[in-house]
Amino acid sequence: MTIILGLESSCDETAAALVTADGRILAHRLATQEEAHRPYGGVVPEIAARAHVEALAPLIEAALTDADMTLNQVDVIAATAGPGLIGGVMVGLVTAKALAHAAGKPLIAVNHLEGHALSPRLSDRTLQFPYLLLLVSGGHCQILLVRGPGDYARLATTIDDAAGEAFDKTAKLLGLGYPGGPQVEKAAAQGNARAVPLPRPLLGTAEPHFSFAGLKSAVMRAVQSGQYSKPDIAASFQQAVIDCMIDRTRRALTQADGMTALVVAGGVAANQAIRAALEQLAADHDLPFVAPPLWLCTDNAAMIAWAGAERFAAGLIDDLTVPARPRWPLDPAAEKARGAGVKA
Ligand code: KG4
Ligand code: ZN
Repeated sequence: MTIILGLESSCDETAAALVTADGRILAHRLATQEEAHRPYGGVVPEIAARAHVEALAPLIEAALTDADMTLNQVDVIAATAGPGLIGGVMVGLVTAKALAHAAGKPLIAVNHLEGHALSPRLSDRTLQFPYLLLLVSGGHCQILLVRGPGDYARLATTIDDAAGEAFDKTAKLLGLGYPGGPQVEKAAAQGNARAVPLPRPLLGTAEPHFSFAGLKSAVMRAVQSGQYSKPDIAASFQQAVIDCMIDRTRRALTQADGMTALVVAGGVAANQAIRAALEQLAADHDLPFVAPPLWLCTDNAAMIAWAGAERFAAGLIDDLTVPARPRWPLDPAAEKARGAGVKA
């Protein structure tokens, strides 16, 4: 059975994992840099890159030890090659190149977004192509038609902030700390989602794009007004995001025939309220709903190893000159959304 080593280092998690071609996770190790970035309220690229340098090699060793294996027993080396913070991406990709070269193994340069996009097939081995994917993370908010490894059609993106970014900024405005998404979710559970009137940007428009900048400004005004409690603002914000996601995803479903499932992935997919709303939407459309377990939603290396497995099976192998790419869209043919501060 083919065994894939996956490396992830594109943001603030350093990770290494060993996964088999039939989707068994032999080992997965992760070191988060949360503490190093906490004083700054966000990820500092230079600090992140240095921390990846220190953490990565011991994590690879630990993963191999967990699986009771040596590097020679690994068949394929996969690493995130973008998009992300370029310093960190280079640490992981160069490490993968060195290992692949030294051990004489094939190298696979994985698009981090493809890692998220294919992760639901690692947790649910019955999930078949094509599926409709809501990919919601700290840097991205897209609706994609997933047809196979390397084969994506982007139906929608955000014209300004990503969904996770909106959660993180709201957490900052509310003084809830970093990382923001889980904190906002926790506060929202104690609040009234109808307490604060907030906008639902782009609701009802023909193209299923997203926008969160106006929502963030409205949250800021609500905080400054001093009229509302933190839990009420958090709950109202989360509900506004959910309303937008459901409306936009419902719209995308009308543009996508023959889907096998509605799937959500990326860090924001760890949010239980968002998962519940999407599950209901899928049921309304008689579609199965698939979401990876929480640890597989946020950044990790198992999803990178798995994307490597899927690409390897499809014959998509890279050579040692493959570049690190700070920007790397999954669907290069997709046009920029109007007014976009396009993220990838
Ligand atoms: O996929 P990910 O781990 O990293 C990126 O590739 O961006 O996503 C991180 C994002 C952060 O913005 C974080 O606040 C958000 O996912 N997030 C959440 C939750 N857990 C993580 N957002 C809302 N609710 C959560 N429970
Ligand atoms: Zn991610």
